[in-house]
Amino acid sequence: VILTVTLNAALDITYQVDTHQPGHTHRVRTVHTRPGGKGVNVADVLTQLGEPVHATGLAGPDVDLPDFVPITEPTRRTTTILTPDGTATLFNEPGPHVTAGEWATFLDHYDSLAPHAHVVVLSGSLPPGIPTDAYTQLINRTTTPVILDTDGDPLRHGLTAQPALIKPNQHELQRLLGRTPRLPHDCHELGVPVAATLGPAGAVLSTPDGCWTARPPRPVTGNPTGAGDAFTAALARGLTDRKPWPDILTDAVALSAAAVAAPHAGAYNPTLYRELTRLVDVKEG
Ligand SMILES: Nc1ncnc2c1ncn2[C@@H]1O[C@H](COP(=O)(O)OP(=O)(O)OP(=O)(O)O)[C@@H](O)[C@H]1O
Ligand SMILES: [Mg+2]
Repeated sequence: VILTVTLNAALDITYQVDTHQPGHTHRVRTVHTRPGGKGVNVADVLTQLGEPVHATGLAGPDVDLPDFVPITEPTRRTTTILTPDGTATLFNEPGPHVTAGEWATFLDHYDSLAPHAHVVVLSGSLPPGIPTDAYTQLINRTTTPVILDTDGDPLRHGLTAQPALIKPNQHELQRLLGRTPRLPHDCHELGVPVAATLGPAGAVLSTPDGCWTARPPRPVTGNPTGAGDAFTAALARGLTDRKPWPDILTDAVALSAAAVAAPHAGAYNPTLYRELTRLVDVKEG
């Protein structure tokens, strides 16, 4: 089973609008609301794939996430404004304050779940009150491979605990390196396997066994929010099944592109996924 951890869960709200102009009043065409946060998105994609998954984390009393450790403060909202051309504008609330006692309860809960997992996925930002080295603590308590998908200081700290794989996007990688990344060269110096995602341009996978680049056959229009989480879901499944690295990368690029075609995070378009799996171009180097 794959275990996903979401310390900063969210109530995801997607507004579909015809146009998006700052300073104007907008008619909202459709509203979609779901419990989210990056690890929840990863778990939802794995469930759609038919892969055994267990989702945990911290959640407030106002959102239905079974097996999350309850916290007192309400869950944050993440609002996506989506236009028909696939432009997504996001408003992410900072998140509730988590107490030291709630974090300690989570660590106990995590210790009861992690030994049963084949792969652990740690995703997203840390809510206020959680120590910056939270992911380092979790990785150090885990004997199975851990995939880390986060940003800034939590990512910098987490790297010191040697996760099996990290999944930065271009901006996260730039912040981590402190300069514009030169790929694949710059990934080597991070000392852990890196799957760097590049939006519609695909992704680069750098490991001690080699380096591969893969791109989707064409850009997909839709909702790009959560494409990275679908990518991470494919990585987790690939590590669980011990697939070869280039196969894992091909699958992740196809699945994440198919996730763009689904209207909200945590889902993919299965027809497009099947089609793209045959068309993704993967190259060594
Ligand atoms: N427009 C697109 N067309 C085709 N594939 C895409 C497109 N956008 C993203 N992808 C696929 O999704 C992967 C992840 O995208 P991206 O780098 O934007 O992740 P991200 O910023 O981590 O996303 P998020 O954190 O919102 O889940 C890419 O590597 C690519 O394979
Ligand atoms: Mg991401």
